[in-house]
Amino acid sequence: MFEHVEPFAGDPILSLNEDFQKDPRPGKINLSIGIYFDDAGRIPVLDSVRRAEQQVVARDAPKPYLPIEGAANFRAAVQALLFGAEHEAIAAGRVATIQSVGSSGGLKVGADFIARWLPGSEVWVSDPSWENHRSMFEGAGLAVHDYPYYDGASGGLAFDAMCKALRGLPAKSVVLLHACCHNPTGVDLTPAQWDALVPILVEGELLPYLDLAYQGFGDSIVEDAYALRALAAARDRAGRSLSFFVANSFSKSMSLYGERCGALSVVCADAGEATNVLGQLKFTVRRNYSSPPIHGGQIVAAVLTEPALRRDWEAELAAMRERIQAMRRSLHGVLAAKMPDRDFGYFLHQRGMFSYTGLSPRQVDRLREEFAVYLVRSGRMCVAGLNRSNVEATARAMAAVLAD
Ligand code: LMR
Repeated sequence: MFEHVEPFAGDPILSLNEDFQKDPRPGKINLSIGIYFDDAGRIPVLDSVRRAEQQVVARDAPKPYLPIEGAANFRAAVQALLFGAEHEAIAAGRVATIQSVGSSGGLKVGADFIARWLPGSEVWVSDPSWENHRSMFEGAGLAVHDYPYYDGASGGLAFDAMCKALRGLPAKSVVLLHACCHNPTGVDLTPAQWDALVPILVEGELLPYLDLAYQGFGDSIVEDAYALRALAAARDRAGRSLSFFVANSFSKSMSLYGERCGALSVVCADAGEATNVLGQLKFTVRRNYSSPPIHGGQIVAAVLTEPALRRDWEAELAAMRERIQAMRRSLHGVLAAKMPDRDFGYFLHQRGMFSYTGLSPRQVDRLREEFAVYLVRSGRMCVAGLNRSNVEATARAMAAVLAD
């Protein structure tokens, strides 16, 4: 029956993380997977999240199936977080939100919806993008292409080339955009660049699909949602509100990775469309996994809606963001001192958890094999894995492979 089944080649990020766990070397450094580690190298349990979980457990509530679309308090809290509580799109009832199994689950439900309801549409992702984007949309049966994004020469954004490519796309093409903290490059659009991009999306009748996995890791919760709010304020060529998708995650911002807490929101032209879209998202969920899990979503809802928990969470998120920025400065400082002829300024400009180092796959292999420093083979470094004890060793190892 299964003789023809081929071996799985492994996932470029998750398999590497498994290899790291098996590595017996004592000084190993994990800068591969997109997880925030604290200065002691541990995945933190945020105090706000711990208290929220204690509240959830103390309720001693039964555990029924959630509705297909998830818990109402979670979904409302997500909409307020994304758009602001008083946003016109929420008041107008034109945002269809489902609680999803991580933002990956949301991305895939959205991809399945597109395959079903926009069958001629093809998907465009940034070059490069998170390794799993292409795989997910292809897994839904959609053709996936790249648009220019990263400029290797400057370590910044190829904005003109990106706009030119997007201007040439057929109507109803899906454009996957990283709302903030681009994975893998750490290179983001500025607010002015978002403002310049929105009319291109409108004119081309394109369908933006935002991935917001790192809200709060760039500048702040509100500033990192700039793209969503700019799109929500836009009107299409017929003067109707622009339609777009946004998948968001609490894995990183609440350090809740394994609870798989995320959401998919589809902003529609009006409430009638939103009702139908929500119905079809539910149909997709029902025939995949039926309904989302209850526990993690209730923790998230408590953190987002209870003022004391919310205040403390925002402070804890800011502390994570600031620690990453401090690590960027440390790594840059050591490398700049060791190799004064090279420009490592990209560590300072790039934002969020990741930096694109420009290291070749061979150099990344050397880092892992000779120095037990793990990066993704694309050259992506998870800066959130650096701490005061390993930053010097990381810089030394990088300098050694770069000098070769
Ligand atoms: C990453 O990019 O490393 C994370 O988002 C984890 C994952 O699922 O790939």
